[in-house]
Amino acid sequence: MNVIVDTRLCSGHARCAASAPEVFELDDNGYALPLEQDVPPDRLDQAREGAFACPERAITVD
Ligand code: F3S
Repeated sequence: MNVIVDTRLCSGHARCAASAPEVFELDDNGYALPLEQDVPPDRLDQAREGAFACPERAITVD
């Protein structure tokens, strides 16, 4: 499963990292770092929770 953070949509709500700190990281200003990676199966639920938590829908899990 691929997880992608669209930094153009990120507004720094930080809910992704709060929900899934092992998947998402924030920069010094609280914006999600660019991410496009394969997530191991044991972190997939976390990745989905983080994506669901983002009010900007900046995270895609496919
Ligand atoms: Fe950005 Fe959404 Fe996370 S706005 S910091 S990707 S919760």
